[in-house]
Amino acid sequence: MSEKRTILVFTATGKQGSAVIKALDKTKFNTIAATRDASSDAAKALGVELVQGSLDDPDSIFAQAKDKSEGGGIWGVLLVLAEQDPETHKKQGLAIIDAAVRYDVKHVVYSGGDFSGKEVTGIPFFDVKHDIEAHLKQNQSFRSWTILRPVGFMENFYWPLYLDQVTTTWPKAKHSTYKLIAVEDIGKIAAEAFENSDQEKFSKKEINIAGDELTPGEIADIWKRVTGQTLQAKETPVFPPTFAPAFKFFDDNQFEADVEKNRRLFPWISNFESWLKKTPFAQAA
Ligand SMILES: NC(=O)c1ccc[n+]([C@@H]2O[C@H](COP(=O)([O-])OP(=O)(O)OC[C@H]3O[C@@H](n4cnc5c(N)ncnc54)[C@H](OP(=O)(O)O)[C@@H]3O)[C@@H](O)[C@H]2O)c1
Repeated sequence: MSEKRTILVFTATGKQGSAVIKALDKTKFNTIAATRDASSDAAKALGVELVQGSLDDPDSIFAQAKDKSEGGGIWGVLLVLAEQDPETHKKQGLAIIDAAVRYDVKHVVYSGGDFSGKEVTGIPFFDVKHDIEAHLKQNQSFRSWTILRPVGFMENFYWPLYLDQVTTTWPKAKHSTYKLIAVEDIGKIAAEAFENSDQEKFSKKEINIAGDELTPGEIADIWKRVTGQTLQAKETPVFPPTFAPAFKFFDDNQFEADVEKNRRLFPWISNFESWLKKTPFAQAA
């Protein structure tokens, strides 16, 4: 039997899943990545064992992962969901948690979103994450779990519509600052949670995570300093109907994550400027 613990990573080819795989200590963990297409370049690039299947049938994914787990079973699960239909998203989340119970998983790290700590937001995509959290928390079968609630990803700035908000909608928002987290740091925090699953810091904890909090003016100043470019959108961004209510909600409601607390918990966490300096935006300056 392997000495290493096996972690099954859902949504493994995505931003967060791949960041977690990168951050996990390979001497302590075997990682198995779940994907809908094991032949894709993104799946192969992960460099770990792959299992292929639909999130609508998590048992088949768990069964394959158990076969590949070198005899020790599946110790941990990273749960991240990318499905955009809220009801399907919820169904997948609950089914994965139920399957994790059947496969005697010990620790689940669920990365949802900052607002999923609230009972009801009126935004179905946030509220179903709250329901998934509740299902995880009320389950007595796991030794422990960690809920991560990331704020807006710094990587969203690769999306021109998102960037355009900085000089258009954000200065008119009901709160003066925006909170951001680097995806690489979500990966590091989740990896830390797997490694220290029984410790006070992570065991049965809900952590809203953010690495920086800035006004739109401060974001524009950092952008100028690091890239040499002036942020000035030509027009107010119009988001697709599936996303628009969430983006209005972000302008009307401040994220709950406490950046200072995050800096105490994770002293290495990136701020926006240190993240931006590592991106192609900076190299283009
Ligand atoms: N962007 C933000 O600012 C932000 C902030 C907080 C929380 N979140 C949450 O983060 C989650 C998404 O995580 P992420 O950004 O790491 O994911 P992502 O980069 O969008 O990853 C998508 C991956 O998920 C897999 N997948 C499985 N079912 C899918 C489906 N129905 N539709 C699309 N992809 C599917 C795909 O992999 P295969 O093709 O290999 O299966 C794909 O590579 C969402 O729940 C979102 O609410 C986002």
